[in-house]
Amino acid sequence: VSVRGVHHLGFAVADLDEAVSTYAELFGARVEHRERVEEQGVEAASVLVGPDRIELLAPTGDDTPVGRFLAKRGPGMHHVAYEVDDVRAALADLARKGVELIDHEPRHGLFGLEVAFVHPDAVHGVLTEVVCPV
Ligand code: CO
Repeated sequence: VSVRGVHHLGFAVADLDEAVSTYAELFGARVEHRERVEEQGVEAASVLVGPDRIELLAPTGDDTPVGRFLAKRGPGMHHVAYEVDDVRAALADLARKGVELIDHEPRHGLFGLEVAFVHPDAVHGVLTEVVCPV
């Protein structure tokens, strides 16, 4: 897969407002987008830190993917997202290499992005997202 660069790092947090404040106070970060997506069980902020981007993810409840992640691992690193020209082509390339995919088709991610997730077992334990800004 040909990658343009890291699009964002995703962090699981317990309290989104608190996390946004922490990054603003410590690193001068500013919120680019903020969104609550009930069907994904997540309230998220896209935050610019200097020229780069992090995604802060808070669960809307305990029985959600991020809620279960927090219960199991606590807050912290959740995923890395690589920017690609074409998510579908990236998935086809990865599938050809026999990589275990979570998403076999591109889907609508947060903030209007087209995304797909690669299983962490295929990438040495790191949940990996490929993303194309639409
Ligand atoms: Co992400």
